[in-house]
Amino acid sequence: MKDLSLHILDLSQNSITAGADLVEISIKEDTVADRLTISIIDNGKGMDKDFLERVMDPFVTTRTSRKVGLGIPLMMAACKRCEGDLVIESEKNVGTRLKAEFKHSHIDRAPIGNTAETMLSLIMAGSDADKVVDFVYRHIIDEREFCMDTREIRVVLGDDVSLGEPEVLMWIKDYICEGLKNIRGGV
Ligand SMILES: Nc1ncnc2c1ncn2[C@@H]1O[C@H](COP(=O)(O)OP(=O)(O)OP(=O)(O)O)[C@@H](O)[C@H]1O
Ligand SMILES: [Mg+2]
Repeated sequence: MKDLSLHILDLSQNSITAGADLVEISIKEDTVADRLTISIIDNGKGMDKDFLERVMDPFVTTRTSRKVGLGIPLMMAACKRCEGDLVIESEKNVGTRLKAEFKHSHIDRAPIGNTAETMLSLIMAGSDADKVVDFVYRHIIDEREFCMDTREIRVVLGDDVSLGEPEVLMWIKDYICEGLKNIRGGV
């Protein structure tokens, strides 16, 4: 069982590979409804309906012409084990919206894990891409919300400093850890 932050890393890497320049990651913890929802929205190259169907169910396909990936099916299995599901909507040349749901308190639900590390890995990968990839990370726990938007950070940094600079990454990590501590009520 791997932490959900690692699934988020896998799936967001798909968005970078798909040429997105904006990836929006939201984690919503609703302790009243007992649901955990993770959504990843990108403006990458998208998938057509036929391809998406095969991606969602790689073991049914008889085609061997493409590599059968497991990132999406593994996340789907994790959701289904926890009274949830994974839904993906995608449009060719527009982008992809993925929504993963879990019962928050389910005994089999993996911990959310270290999302600050995940964001750092993504920002590093994104600053190595041909074009800059921006990320929005929103984390909501009931009424409390934290949000990090690399577009805003880049405005402050100006044109000469890259998001991938070690000092910038360390600052972002602290910023995320601090923000999460606040919405978790200091626990
Ligand atoms: N956000 C996305 N935008 C466009 N295409 C995507 C997206 N996510 C997945 N895909 C397509 O679906 C395929 C399967 O994705 P999946 O993550 O399941 O496996 P993979 O990335 O190929 O391999 P891995 O097991 O290493 O993750 C990808 O190779 C890619 O072609
Ligand atoms: Mg993948």
